[in-house]
Amino acid sequence: MICNLNNYQPASLDAPAGLTDLLKELPEPVISNYAGFLNSKPEFKETLFRYFSSPEKFPAITPLIIYNEVNHQMVTLLTNRNETPEEPGEPNSILSHVRAYGFDETFLCSDCYGQLSCSSCAIEVLTGDLNNPDPRDEEFDMLDIDEAKPPTEKTRLSCQAQIAKTPLLVKIRASEKKVLSKV
Ligand code: FES
Repeated sequence: MICNLNNYQPASLDAPAGLTDLLKELPEPVISNYAGFLNSKPEFKETLFRYFSSPEKFPAITPLIIYNEVNHQMVTLLTNRNETPEEPGEPNSILSHVRAYGFDETFLCSDCYGQLSCSSCAIEVLTGDLNNPDPRDEEFDMLDIDEAKPPTEKTRLSCQAQIAKTPLLVKIRASEKKVLSKV
């Protein structure tokens, strides 16, 4: 489910604690516009709240919420570990789920289609644990090739970062307006 956050009126997020905890790394205006979106989709909201009220009842489900800072969109996926996409990139990668749900390059880039030869699929993992929390050397070496997006300790390549059991909050970062020149 995708939403253009600018299209929704801000609202207060009266959600189960697990969901409010997951979202708290986002700016308040993003959270309140997302709450407005959920209010406009009552069936989806109920499904999401049902998960976060009793996650133990949905052992195969991992929610994946992705905020795109570039175009102010938010995608919410209820990924199913019994339906693991094999590509692009690593099986069960964040990128593979994004593509499996039909979201294309306009939402999350993947210039090399998961071949570890670009960094266009970079994301920030704000909350939640990955199945492979430490990037292997080949991924680590690619993280700093985009000078407009210097990596942080939360940066991963979405074609390599694999979903685990805990809900994930991820951000697609906008380029920094001013890039500090290297000494
Ligand atoms: S798509 Fe190129 S490194 Fe992930």
